Amino acid sequence: MERVLSGVQPTGDIHIGNYLGAMRQFVQLQNEADCYFCIVNLHAITVPRDPQELLQKTYDLAALHLAIGLDPDKVTLFVQSEVRAHAEAAWLLQCVARMGELNRMIQFKEKGKGSESAVAGLFTYPVLQAADILLYQANRVPIGEDQKQHLELTREVAERFNRDYQDVLKIPEPLIGKVGARIMALDQPEKKMSKSADSDFNYITLLEDPKRIEKKLKRAVTDSENVIRYDPETKPGVSNLLVMNSLLTQTPIHTLVQQYEGEGYGRLKKDLIEIMMDHLTPIQQKYAEIRQSEELVRILKNGAEKANAVAEDTLRKMKDAMGIV
Ligand code: TYM
Repeated sequence: MERVLSGVQPTGDIHIGNYLGAMRQFVQLQNEADCYFCIVNLHAITVPRDPQELLQKTYDLAALHLAIGLDPDKVTLFVQSEVRAHAEAAWLLQCVARMGELNRMIQFKEKGKGSESAVAGLFTYPVLQAADILLYQANRVPIGEDQKQHLELTREVAERFNRDYQDVLKIPEPLIGKVGARIMALDQPEKKMSKSADSDFNYITLLEDPKRIEKKLKRAVTDSENVIRYDPETKPGVSNLLVMNSLLTQTPIHTLVQQYEGEGYGRLKKDLIEIMMDHLTPIQQKYAEIRQSEELVRILKNGAEKANAVAEDTLRKMKDAMGIV
């Protein structure tokens, strides 16, 4: 059976972009692969965080994974810091990755902005991500478009390890959806939707209140043409609304465009408000049930145990190959 691994940072609020770009694929994959889903709290501390908030958000995100429909009997859900092998393998791989390749990482350039005060962990962030993936010998990694470069680095580092030491690591493939891999910001549709945006009109969170969903979608930036067409280049706002509708209703975009012929943006938005509420309400109800339950703690404990067994096995092989006692 194929192995799948992915990770999400417990920071900001998880939004519809994270969901449509990555997390929704997790739900489908649980029926066809051996899945490992990781709450990557060690990645989260590469920018300053309030410790109490990070702790809460770690559990919030775990509960959200279950609320979207992941079945703990099918998948292994765990917190990164509970599997020590991640930090250890990251060090080994830091001695394989090159400064030059890390320097080219777009996320580092955007977040670090060349600042002398950015922490060193922000620079080596993609190596920890490589460790997350390689420790599980994952065949496929479901991610949004923005993580593609980190996946390429992971593959290169793994290939170099296998060449320079021994053939230990599986080379993973990215799994990026054809539609929805880059959900755009509602208020600035030429930029991607982002947890760390300045304005919360940028995104809709999975736990968003229905009134706010309505307000945010009504305010979503479109254009002055008032013709519903799919053209991400010249009509990024309208195209983004069509993409979200398409993914949530599982209707091809060209069918939607036909259905909306002669209609205005008001109708497109009104429909999406309803579609989104219908989709998010059951997730929100399930989240409320799970978040405070003892069950959540038990699921994470079991997940960490299973993850530890797999990760330790790969780590031992990596150390053996490198001559590390
Ligand atoms: P993070 O926490 O920023 O995002 C989680 C997932 O959501 C996807 N995503 C989007 N997809 C579509 N449209 C958007 N606007 C959008 N914004 C975010 C991301 O691509 C990601 O798949 N470095 C990773 C976390 C990570 C990881 C890993 C991922 C750590 N280790 C191992 C995969 C495998 C990150 O910051 O994701």
